Amino acid sequence: MAPAAAALRAEPSGPLRGRIRPPGDKSISHRSMIFGLLSVGETRVDGLLEGDDVLRTAEACRALGATIGRDGSSWLVRGTGIGSLLAPRRTLDFGNAGTGSRLMLGVVGGHPIQARFDGDASLRKRPMRRILDPLALMGVTVLEQAEGGRCPILIQGTAEPTPIEYRTPVASAQIKSAILFAGLNSPGRTTVIETEASRDHTEKMLAFFGADVTVELFGEAGRKVTLQGRPELCASHVVVPVDPSSAAFAIVAALIVPKSDVVVEGVMMNPLRIGLITTLLEMGASIEILDRRVEGGEDVADLRVRASALTGVDVPAARAPSMIDEYPILAVAAAFATGTTRMRGLHELRVKESDRLAAVAAGLAEAGVRHVVEGDDLLVEGGSGDVRGGGVAVTHLDHRIAMSFLCLGFASQKPMAIDDEHMIATSYPGFKADMTRLGARFA
Ligand code: S3P
Repeated sequence: MAPAAAALRAEPSGPLRGRIRPPGDKSISHRSMIFGLLSVGETRVDGLLEGDDVLRTAEACRALGATIGRDGSSWLVRGTGIGSLLAPRRTLDFGNAGTGSRLMLGVVGGHPIQARFDGDASLRKRPMRRILDPLALMGVTVLEQAEGGRCPILIQGTAEPTPIEYRTPVASAQIKSAILFAGLNSPGRTTVIETEASRDHTEKMLAFFGADVTVELFGEAGRKVTLQGRPELCASHVVVPVDPSSAAFAIVAALIVPKSDVVVEGVMMNPLRIGLITTLLEMGASIEILDRRVEGGEDVADLRVRASALTGVDVPAARAPSMIDEYPILAVAAAFATGTTRMRGLHELRVKESDRLAAVAAGLAEAGVRHVVEGDDLLVEGGSGDVRGGGVAVTHLDHRIAMSFLCLGFASQKPMAIDDEHMIATSYPGFKADMTRLGARFA
């Protein structure tokens, strides 16, 4: 049963100062458990995000045969290798995690086992057909599903996934990754084509763990990824870089709380993940990119962020895949800017942990911010540094809605509350502690 809701209030706060290192990247953390499961030998993972979503994926990997333990702060995963997964004895409960459940549908689908997938009220609303359709082409059978192809879902995987070439209907790393994970146990080549590139962590990690994978440019902004099935994945050492989607909260809070000066350390600068930084720089943000280096195969940098007078901009739809989880916090930045910010092409926000377009609009209304939703676009009229605040944002089991509106409350005239803080633990368990260390106040 879900715990009783716990409201939380963000108080107008003094300048934010100091340094923080937000947690490991959620996408890479999920994948590090999965690659550990599918490899032969022991995979060591440092910097894992120990959030609820990732712990659910780890639990599912255990149920499929992995042995997972700790060595100090490292996580150790001893896998079964491709083709040797065990049938789980219980339902795989992914809680709030869309990524965990969708990627694991691909993993299970590529093996001759049955498994039931389920999750919380948010996950039960999310569309899974986008994953089940390509998996059906590969030979996976859906035995049971809730209306509209939703969880709970019972699937029967296949011993010999059919190699397919699939063009994804939306730019989604989850769809791409589920197909590639199923394709790992295919006797042939699996190809995924996307007309707009989504985050590339699965492809990069496939190569890192020893698979034969090629990535070609496709059209103006797309990619074609081809995987040769049945590689032997070799257990490896994964160092998880800091999640830019979690760093986003401190970055925006430092920009909108007057006189702030904050360093956010070790932020992953993968070009397919930093649309928010590009957008904030266009808005006039003072973000210095310091000490660029490579950690765990990814470019990372320390970001020094100082409070800035922001200006509204037009954010093109083509940028959405590189900042898909950052629109709620961008809407908060836009509320403090001068002029209007137009965010285009946000249809995918409607099927995230909540209908984020509706949840952001409702939260902005509570905070007294003028805005309008026009089709799939969100327009936010900035208050030139002045935002009233004073309302309650309803989070709908969505961690990013919760953290975004708390950040608004650090800089608004009146405190801003959220109805429930529990979900923050899915991606950023240390959020309150990190923000408090910088000088933010909660009540
Ligand atoms: C993720 C992909 C994105 C993103 C999610 C994590 C991933 O979803 O919103 O938080 O790790 O592959 P889509 O691929 O459906 O856009």
